[in-house]
Amino acid sequence: MKKFIPDSLISTLMLLAATMLSAQVHADDAANANPWGGDGRPAEFTPERIEKGRVMYKQLCLRCHGPEMVGGNNAFDLRTFPLNDRARFFNSVTNGKRAMPPWKGILSEEEVGIVWAYVGTRGGKL
Ligand code: HEC
Repeated sequence: MKKFIPDSLISTLMLLAATMLSAQVHADDAANANPWGGDGRPAEFTPERIEKGRVMYKQLCLRCHGPEMVGGNNAFDLRTFPLNDRARFFNSVTNGKRAMPPWKGILSEEEVGIVWAYVGTRGGKL
């Protein structure tokens, strides 16, 4: 019987399949990785702090970032804020960023941390 597919093509295809399989395994690793980049859910995210953060968010952040962080008008979508970048959250909230007002002098570091408990758990969902 005539051979339609050359051996070299078969080995190329097998290599491609193996590469795709390994890429898939790595993608699964990334999805399962701790979103905060540490070795577990940060201890600062207690249920009490998340609930206090929710109240502060409603009072201070909702008018621009939307209810439950959804549908903010032109403001950053906080549901996509990188959870492994606590320092960036503190810096942006404290010092402001473009149209985002600085909260320095209004919120203490402790209070920024309480709002972070809310934002950093995607509103208590993580
Ligand atoms: C007056 C409207 C307004 C209010 C109130 C507001 N923000 Fe923002 N916020 C913005 C805008 C606009 C941006 C997008 C800034 C940019 O990148 O141009 C933003 C961006 C951010 C970012 C992303 C910054 C980054 O590093 O990219 C965070 C985090 C954030 N806001 C948190 C908060 C928190 C927490 C509160 C409540 C304490 C709050 N914001 C209240 C308007 C607001």
